[in-house]
Amino acid sequence: MIEVKNNFYVLSTNKTTYSFRVTKLGYLEHLYYGRRIDSSDMEAFSRKHVFVPGGCVNYNQEVKNFSLEDIKLEMSSYGKGDIREPFIEVVHADGSFTSDFLFERAEIVEGKAEYETLPGSYDENGKVQHLLVVLRDSSYNLTLELHYYIYEDCDVICRSSKLINNSEETVRLNRLMSSQLDFEDSGYIFTSFNGAWGREMQKYDVPVCAGKYVNSSYTGTSSCRANPFVMISKEDTSEEYGDCYGINLIYSGNHYEAIEVSSFGKTRVVTGINPQSFCFVLNKGDVFEAPEAVMTYSDAGFTNMSRQMHKFVREHIVRGKWKKKERPVLLNSWEAAYFDINEDKLVELAKAGRDVGIELFVMDDGWFGKRDDDTSSLGDWYVDENKLPNGLDGLCRKINDLGIDFGIWVEPEMVNVESNLYREHSDWTMEIPGKPHSEGRNQRILDFANPAVVDYMTEELTRVFSSANIAYVKWDMNRNFSDIYSQYLPPEKQGETAHRYVIGLYHIMKTLTERFPDILFEGCASGGNRFDLGILSYFPQIWASDNTDALCRVNMQEGYSYGYPMSAVSAHVSICPNHQTLRTTPLSARFNVASFGVLGYECNLCEMSEGELDEIKKQIDLYKKWRGILQYGEFYRGRTGNIHEWTCVSEDKKNAAGMLMRELFETNAQPMHYKARGLDKDGRYHFYNRETYYDVKEYVNGVAAGFQTPKGEEEEYDINGDALMYRGVKLRYEFAAVIYNHREKYSMDFASRMYFMEGRY
Ligand code: DGJ
Repeated sequence: MIEVKNNFYVLSTNKTTYSFRVTKLGYLEHLYYGRRIDSSDMEAFSRKHVFVPGGCVNYNQEVKNFSLEDIKLEMSSYGKGDIREPFIEVVHADGSFTSDFLFERAEIVEGKAEYETLPGSYDENGKVQHLLVVLRDSSYNLTLELHYYIYEDCDVICRSSKLINNSEETVRLNRLMSSQLDFEDSGYIFTSFNGAWGREMQKYDVPVCAGKYVNSSYTGTSSCRANPFVMISKEDTSEEYGDCYGINLIYSGNHYEAIEVSSFGKTRVVTGINPQSFCFVLNKGDVFEAPEAVMTYSDAGFTNMSRQMHKFVREHIVRGKWKKKERPVLLNSWEAAYFDINEDKLVELAKAGRDVGIELFVMDDGWFGKRDDDTSSLGDWYVDENKLPNGLDGLCRKINDLGIDFGIWVEPEMVNVESNLYREHSDWTMEIPGKPHSEGRNQRILDFANPAVVDYMTEELTRVFSSANIAYVKWDMNRNFSDIYSQYLPPEKQGETAHRYVIGLYHIMKTLTERFPDILFEGCASGGNRFDLGILSYFPQIWASDNTDALCRVNMQEGYSYGYPMSAVSAHVSICPNHQTLRTTPLSARFNVASFGVLGYECNLCEMSEGELDEIKKQIDLYKKWRGILQYGEFYRGRTGNIHEWTCVSEDKKNAAGMLMRELFETNAQPMHYKARGLDKDGRYHFYNRETYYDVKEYVNGVAAGFQTPKGEEEEYDINGDALMYRGVKLRYEFAAVIYNHREKYSMDFASRMYFMEGRY
């Protein structure tokens, strides 16, 4: 709901309120964002100005009691007294950096505005409400639009901004943020999700009591170094209680989230495109659009905030045929064969997959040009006939004849110097002509700031995707930006290159997803180097990490779960010792973790034992039965740390799947308990565990080898929802030390169990 009373603007969702007012001078004073409150009392929150705090700058001589340094604002700029993180920085034709945007008008606009250059949120049901506030810097004739979109049912408010150069002069835009959120007080915990290749989404909490803390990426992508999703909470916020704000950006390039505490103990958070090396030249009449920021608030802790974000992403970001459709269980060839693929090998692998219930076979890297390693052929999207003598279509038919779908891997944004494309178009890459180039994975980035390159790659991919019955595409991207330079743009526009690249990329993704609406696209960037809402606006799922070790994955997937729904997280079961960690974890643990997401397999099934294949078949059967909930259910985190406790509940609360994983075994420890969340407290449930099999020889001396289901693994109760949630089930005794017997549960490092709750209705 949007309410406008005098100069007060109140935006309400079901459970939150956001408000600001226009001051007499024309500034937008931010008043409140938090739990829903009555809209009639906003006057009480406004700043009372009596004097300017010592050492601060007075706004002007007429109004001697007003300083911009000590007021909460909806947007701010440098030069008129506010010395905190600015929302906008413009260099005017006269060389000045000072801007002063004041209120001009506001209007409630029908529906969601479409962006020219970027993806944004959308609402199929037309319920989104849109407030447009127009500000003007009259000294320089610039217009700044602030857009607010209200998604009541998700408790989400999106913000974006647009700068329009109405002047006769050319200006340089050094920064335009998407959101600014000012708080009255300080000491907030800023949570970011940082990492690297193979260890994405590690959660870090930093209390910010003074100074500034920045989470940002400068890799050209949204980056596994620092995901754009961040949280702001209080010291005592937990999974179930307390204030929590989640903020994300619908953008896949360099991003920036800064939190700063002012000298007067106020906190400011700004989010948007990373201003580092960013500069857009705006000539007369030019417009610049900043990406949309997504904000949500919950007074009921982290899990609730996450659930609001999940719902929003599922309903208002992910589009197309796959938005709500159950995703197939796939088998990917990468870790089974790497570049060493050929038609016979792939068909054998697909057959083994079909036999255990795989629905989609994916041929990863290595099928085109002369791609026997990562030194050549990117850009040459022609089948290597030595490997695939019957072409893509021939292989695809053989896979389809097995009764399963076929998918391929591409990396369209890149080119190897060792390729025909580079030999023909060396001016199509991002590199500085005549200067040495810093290479990443032996490849260079195509210049998508150049429309000719965008058009070329769109048509190339159209040709490839039409050449066979392709049901799925894994879209990879495997290097960070360096030597950022568009050979297409003039020198004075090089500060636009990184952002123009993202615009070009989105253009290709939009065209192709519209041309091939049935294809299931999966984003990937060396794993999770570009896991963001921009990609999810086109591709419904993203490969979360190249690291499939169950221990690493449980932490990473927990990290993703703070901001992203399970249906977005692609997760595979792979072989042990794991290729990234050399660790051995139980096959059951690998499945349990991966099943809380979009499940796939990435291993050589042809080399697995009968026992393992039998176990995998049972895993896939089970997943198919529960995937509606595991992909689209309401996700609840329980304990995190050495023990991970997850529950995924159907929307009607009638059915739920749970998981426990203990990272490290503790000798002589007490049996564990499992506590569900999100159930109907008055509902009655059939609680039981997933039948668990072990390859006993791996763990215990003196017990017959082979896959077994020990007695100690049977858990079954008819039990109320409140008991499951508020007390939790005390599980059977587990191995504690010395000698194992069958009445105990096997316990070892990385042991994990899955539980199911079926409502008795
Ligand atoms: C990086 C991806 O993350 C892997 O899954 C695999 O597709 C390789 N690229 C192929 O080169």
